[in-house]
Amino acid sequence: MSAPSQPATTPSGESLPAGLTPLDFQPRTRVVFGPGVFARLGALARELGGTRVLLVSDPGLRSVGHLDRAVQLLREAQLEVACFDDVHENPTTVDVDRAVTVAREARCDLMLGLGGGSSLDCAKGASFLLSNGGRMEDYWGYAKATRPLLPVLAVPTTSGTGSEAQSYAIIAHAETHNKMACGDPGAAPRIALLDPELTLTLPRSVTAVTGIDAISHAVESFVSTRRTPLSTVFAEQAARLLVAAFPQVLAQPQDTAARGDMLWGAHLAGMAIENSMLGAAHACANPLSALCGLTHGIAVGVMLPHVVRYNQAAAPALYAPLMQTLGFDRPEATDAGDRLAQRLTGLLEQGALPTRLSACGVTADLIPQLATQATQQWTGKFNPRPLTQADFQLLYERAL
Ligand SMILES: [Fe+2]
Repeated sequence: MSAPSQPATTPSGESLPAGLTPLDFQPRTRVVFGPGVFARLGALARELGGTRVLLVSDPGLRSVGHLDRAVQLLREAQLEVACFDDVHENPTTVDVDRAVTVAREARCDLMLGLGGGSSLDCAKGASFLLSNGGRMEDYWGYAKATRPLLPVLAVPTTSGTGSEAQSYAIIAHAETHNKMACGDPGAAPRIALLDPELTLTLPRSVTAVTGIDAISHAVESFVSTRRTPLSTVFAEQAARLLVAAFPQVLAQPQDTAARGDMLWGAHLAGMAIENSMLGAAHACANPLSALCGLTHGIAVGVMLPHVVRYNQAAAPALYAPLMQTLGFDRPEATDAGDRLAQRLTGLLEQGALPTRLSACGVTADLIPQLATQATQQWTGKFNPRPLTQADFQLLYERAL
């Protein structure tokens, strides 16, 4: 993610229109996509040059058989495998430390993240510590590693974070619960293996929560202040695929084509984030996860319609190209933001997800604290309409 460090201004400080935002795009991740490509795992891992693989995953992956199959495929390719399959949602520094302990004992030289964004981020986090030492806090920010990172191979089994497209590991501090975005060009997976068949067994609730997260990535990155002519291409195509496929995978979970659209859409949305960052819905969501324990996709899904209305009120045509792609008529009308927000709320309802914070156990007395924490979220700084603490408070009140 090289774009965020470059302000969208001329050298003399004048603002540039989004279409002229400078960009420096260097693809770092080889993408292997298709039904059944998981069978190539062993051969692809061998191509990365390692001999002892740390397989980072979570208990759910073992129960559906994906983890055992991965171990089998790696061993068939003459690779040694050590497993850490106890990653928690919103992984913390403790998760990474435990993965590192397993990897050090087995002298692993290749990281494999198999699962949702939590497993992928934990594998990236382990790569930082194994190659450069220290603690995750040392890598908070971008390009803090001084030595080459261990290669990471990413196999997402959800269509959500798009972490396999990104050079950041999002790791929460175990004590403060602050989400630390630790980035480095070397942390980008060397290979992303995208097999829609791995997502066929996802429970409906996980399909819904991760799908809404991916949709929010497309919508937020499309209007981020760091958007570029390239990131908007990724975001627009991601939104088109995801919004169309989301109801279909809920209705027909075994539809491999729709699952493929979700997985590919989530990957493209991840590429959009990598090249443009996110916005206020994610800034609002992080404190809801830290203080109230909300699942990331639920928190971001509840907040997104309110952020869309807030942003569009200041820039009526902001979402117009995206809405045109999604088939809306009159995308530049003054009520366009409201109609897009209604569509997003409709998707939440289709996924049987909450549409209000009060339904998630959030109470009004928490809002000042949530708003204070939201102002400290890095990602909020890229929202197209700036927000003060009072603005965040208003968004939370509207979402309550
Ligand atoms: Fe997200």
